[in-house]
Amino acid sequence: MDHFLYRDGALYAEDVPVAEIAAQVGTPFYLYSTATLVRHFRLFDEALAGMDHLICYAMKAASNQAILKTLAAEGAGMDVVSGGEYRRARAAGVPGERIVFSGVGKTAEEIRLALDGGVRQFNVESEPEMQVLSAVASKMGKTAPITIRVNPDVDAKTHAKIATGKSENKFGIPISRAREVYAMAAALPGIEVIGIDVHIGSQLTELEPFELAYTKVAELTEVLRADGHDIRRLDLGGGLGIPYTRSNEAPPLPLDYGALIKRNVGHLGCEIEIEPGRLIVGNAGILVSEVIYVKSGEGRDFLILDGAMNDLIRPAMYEAYHDIVPVIEPAPGTEQAPFDIVGPVCESGDTFARQRLMPPLIAGDLVAFRSAGAYGAVMASEYNSRPLVPEVLVHGDQFAVIRPRPTFDEMINRDTIPEWL
Ligand code: LLP
Repeated sequence: MDHFLYRDGALYAEDVPVAEIAAQVGTPFYLYSTATLVRHFRLFDEALAGMDHLICYAMKAASNQAILKTLAAEGAGMDVVSGGEYRRARAAGVPGERIVFSGVGKTAEEIRLALDGGVRQFNVESEPEMQVLSAVASKMGKTAPITIRVNPDVDAKTHAKIATGKSENKFGIPISRAREVYAMAAALPGIEVIGIDVHIGSQLTELEPFELAYTKVAELTEVLRADGHDIRRLDLGGGLGIPYTRSNEAPPLPLDYGALIKRNVGHLGCEIEIEPGRLIVGNAGILVSEVIYVKSGEGRDFLILDGAMNDLIRPAMYEAYHDIVPVIEPAPGTEQAPFDIVGPVCESGDTFARQRLMPPLIAGDLVAFRSAGAYGAVMASEYNSRPLVPEVLVHGDQFAVIRPRPTFDEMINRDTIPEWL
């Protein structure tokens, strides 16, 4: 459920017509709905009710300060994976004790930053990282709370580029070596082992892989406790998928996911963390774009938009499907025809959809890519010297630009010319 609906034949974001925002901001732009963000956050919160828990929003999915503030006001913690994300979370007012630091390659500098500013825990992914963490923390006279990310060797049944829980992936330590690595951690100064971390992938559309992974984590908790480790926190990662089409997909609901967590690890008395990103923000955002040309090709027609792969890379990178809908609702019974929907960037990969059935559109018409809130704006670039796509947030009948489009001068003047030129 989201708050991008047609009303009287026009697409609205909550109580604001999308076309009105487009007229003020220009296209393309990302548009987020506060009500949808909050709704999705609360679904998780309700799903984990009755367990001591913290939902650490995986801010890599969409990291605008306004989004972070909206979620932090709901009680969200943050899952960060870089010094930049840590700084963003702090700048949005999130206290260190609500920030979990994940990531496979934290540098000594990033570790120092988080230890200095405060951190809930580091999710450690390797022995060398643990040694650096121990050394840095000891030198600073601090004790870093840690979990160790275990790789449970579970098939997440998702796109290969976003699966992380198989033994061939770069993430975590093999669960088979967990006892050895936990023993090593316990012996190191400057760190305190407090729990276990696991994250098996993103856009999971079945619960079974979670069940397999969490069963292994539950078993490991008992084993490590027997070894003398005080395992009191479980970070169960993110990854719950969303429907990208409104017709034929029904990924599991947060409520069922919550029940699965309770069933598998509830008896252990641990504090539970989860790190959802996509499910919170994915369907809370759309990308609005304008048709520049309708072009007739050899045996196929193209809709050429002003949005491109630099603004939304998911179709090019993961063959991802996004619903693309006209901002003016087609009259019932309007005939549809197949189009290749493309951007203006100079490569064939700049294709959003092939042979997609669309109602008749003409230059100047607006379309919206649905489910674009997660991994949309954050993965945008200025390829082809197209200024970074702006972001807008709606709240009821209000809207605000939360990241303006850079001017061409701003974009160009970031370059500096060496003396010899
Ligand atoms: N925790 C960790 C350690 C992660 O690596 C991720 C996502 C999450 C949580 C959040 O997962 P989510 O709930 O959003 O599925 N760019 C790709 C997705 C990459 C996911 C990376 N890690 C895409 O556009 O599909």
